Amino acid sequence: MIRNLNLFILFLFFTILIWSPSNAISAESLLQGAHAVSSTMPKSCRACHRGMRMTTTGEEAVCLPCHGSSTDRSTMQTRGFLSGQSVELQDMAAVLRKPYNHPVLTVANVHRQSETLPEEQVSAARHAECVDCHNPHQVAADAPFRGIPGRRVVNNIIEIENEYELCYKCHSQSANLPGSATDKHAEFKVTNRSYHPVEGEGANSYVISLKSPYTARANRPGDISTITCGDCHGNDDPAGPRGPHGSNYEGLLIDKYEMRDGFSEGQYVYALCYRCHERNSILGDESFPKHSLHITGRTSGGGTSCFTCHDAHGSPRYQALIRFNEQVVRPTASGKLEYKPSGASSRSGSCTLVCHGVEHIDRTY
Ligand code: HEC
Ligand code: HEC
Ligand code: HEC
Ligand code: HEC
Ligand code: HEC
Ligand code: HEC
Ligand code: HEC
Repeated sequence: MIRNLNLFILFLFFTILIWSPSNAISAESLLQGAHAVSSTMPKSCRACHRGMRMTTTGEEAVCLPCHGSSTDRSTMQTRGFLSGQSVELQDMAAVLRKPYNHPVLTVANVHRQSETLPEEQVSAARHAECVDCHNPHQVAADAPFRGIPGRRVVNNIIEIENEYELCYKCHSQSANLPGSATDKHAEFKVTNRSYHPVEGEGANSYVISLKSPYTARANRPGDISTITCGDCHGNDDPAGPRGPHGSNYEGLLIDKYEMRDGFSEGQYVYALCYRCHERNSILGDESFPKHSLHITGRTSGGGTSCFTCHDAHGSPRYQALIRFNEQVVRPTASGKLEYKPSGASSRSGSCTLVCHGVEHIDRTY
């Protein structure tokens, strides 16, 4: 029904557009933002809706003639869909081909215009198309997801305001999450014992290693006490297009983060964390008195990653984002794997676990 209504509206619009001498006026209400500028998009709707029926798909093929290679872009200019002296557009396809990416180029014919997200069908194929994250009729440079429908509250769809609400459409309560993936809202929710401050300010009011302008609580203008998914996930090339399209770093991360065990510590190895947390403070044991011992290691065999002890998103159970990597950390002979902090700012506690064959039974720090 809704789909038929859309098609009817589409038909109506094009009827008006084709017969109206000044078609820009009737188009105004539907098309706003970056794609509504007639000096750069002289053929308006026809830049994306072409052919006899003027219908289009939600696949990237609609977008890449302008947002892909420069050869394709010149063709669009020659054909008059994009103005010659147009603004600089970057090659999004090149970014999407990086090893860690959103599967825009590799998944086809799954997105439906009438689909409901978060997905309710367990067996539904996973996908991410440009139009899942950008509404081509409303997108603007400073509002990349304007017009994307968000959560349903009773019978109304609330528009997305924060980036994380966009991400949760596919990475939170989706019935079709891959086996290894977890519900991101469950990790970031502010009722957790600890969490990186994406949905709201953090649980810990004093985080000693934070580098200015990052701070646990915003007190002065310029202070940053909340961060975004995009502060960690996105293009590794700071000069390239922003956004979570693709990266050379594992986890689609903007910077290097070594998650495996047994690497020698270095600025590069944990560069992601050191963007916001002072390396000297961490290695100087200003918070956890055994940080340096674990991260640098005792021998030339290297140390262990932050990932062995910390979750980069949040920890429902423990303070300080503690979540042990059970590939490396094992339960003791009596089956215990436990962290017992003495309190948020006491900088002491104890661990019961086995790591590298070393048994810790209520080992205190
Ligand atoms: C930048 C590309 C682009 C431009 C410009 C554009 N559209 Fe669209 N339009 C799309 C895409 C892509 C879809 C399909 C979205 C999907 O599958 O989720 C679409 C869908 C539609 C629909 C279906 C209902 C809806 O809103 O989702 C209508 C109607 C429509 N467009 C009308 C127009 C009209 C009229 C214009 C000119 C005023 C226009 N479009 C300009 C890309 C564009
Ligand atoms: C005919 C060429 C053309 C097509 C086709 C096209 N775009 Fe654009 N797009 C542009 C231009 C021109 C801008 C404005 C760039 C600027 O002002 O810097 C733009 C801006 C954007 C922006 C805002 C970011 C920015 O740099 O301003 C996004 C996001 C975007 N387009 C996504 C899409 C998506 C998604 C599609 C396919 C559904 C699409 N575009 C199809 C030409 C096009
Ligand atoms: C329309 C659905 C959709 C939306 C919206 C979406 N994603 Fe994804 N994302 C996917 C799919 C599909 C994958 C491939 C793996 C999978 O199925 O989870 C993926 C993978 C990822 C990965 C893992 C990549 C890797 O190399 O392991 C990260 C990180 C990610 N997304 C972050 C985000 C962030 C941040 C946002 C919000 C800005 C977001 N996603 C929005 C569908 C989506
Ligand atoms: C974009 C900036 C940013 C990045 C990157 C970042 N952090 Fe944080 N981190 C913060 C902020 C802001 C807080 C303060 C949260 C609070 O007040 O509880 C914080 C807090 C923490 C805490 C303490 C949480 C608590 O409740 O005590 C830990 C542990 C932590 N980060 C570890 C990491 C690790 C490990 C990495 C790398 C994977 C990392 N951070 C990357 C900004 C960042
Ligand atoms: C402080 C940095 C940081 C922030 C902020 C952050 N992430 Fe991540 N994320 C990571 C790291 C590091 C990994 C890889 C390690 C892992 O899997 O836990 C990761 C892994 C992922 C994955 C792939 C693993 C999986 O479970 O599917 C997804 C999807 C993801 N993040 C989504 C998000 C979303 C959505 C947000 C915002 C709501 C977000 N991340 C915010 C650092 C961050
Ligand atoms: C999973 C969600 C997602 C998908 C899929 C996606 N984008 Fe984006 N894109 C974003 C987000 C989020 C931003 C904003 C990043 C920021 O401003 O920090 C963005 C930014 C952009 C920009 C502006 C870059 C800049 O530096 O100004 C363009 C252009 C763009 N996207 C085009 C596309 C096109 C074309 C496609 C499909 C080929 C696409 N995107 C697919 C989420 C997505
Ligand atoms: C062996 C486990 C372990 C490893 C490995 C580890 N940490 Fe921690 N970290 C802890 C514990 C335990 C605490 C909490 C100490 C307390 O407050 O009682 C902590 C606290 C923190 C805090 C919050 C206090 C502060 O310093 O601001 C940050 C941030 C942090 N760690 C970052 C890192 C980073 C970055 C790495 C990797 C370079 C790392 N940690 C590696 C166990 C670990």
